[in-house]
Amino acid sequence: MESLSLQIYGSKVLRMKGATVEEFDGELADFLDRMVGTMIIEEGVGLAAPQVGVSKQVAVVNSEPENEKTLIKMINPIIVSTSDETGSFEEGCLSVPGIRGNVIRPVAIEIHYQDETGEKHELKAEGLLARVIQHEVDHLNGVLFVDRLSIAKKMLIKPKLRSFSDGSGR
Ligand code: CO
Repeated sequence: MESLSLQIYGSKVLRMKGATVEEFDGELADFLDRMVGTMIIEEGVGLAAPQVGVSKQVAVVNSEPENEKTLIKMINPIIVSTSDETGSFEEGCLSVPGIRGNVIRPVAIEIHYQDETGEKHELKAEGLLARVIQHEVDHLNGVLFVDRLSIAKKMLIKPKLRSFSDGSGR
């Protein structure tokens, strides 16, 4: 299986809101399989469709990469509630290589999503899984983790981000 090619910071598709999926067909199932394969090859814990150039509400997450059972394929995910309690954790992103930084997010969430057959699911998540899901749902709305860093950290990474945008840093 050929790996999908990753979009890097500066690519416009990363800033677009993904379209809602309405057709749950074989093409979608194949695309999800390719996303899972790409996530594994790239050693990520999550991957959103815009990161492979497809502006759709599709993401895959696996907060325990060595465990096949924790793999979740999420179509049209919506975060319906978040905990008041927040936590800070260092994040990175396959689309922003070489940059990591602390992001504050709610520690627990509840989401609604559909699977590749269109069946609806409700999921409560906390800890790393909650964080990964929020990171991927951000991608589906054109938001990157670097947008959520402290002002000081944003200043520090600005030259690196600029080098991605003008192509010199790839
Ligand atoms: Co990411």
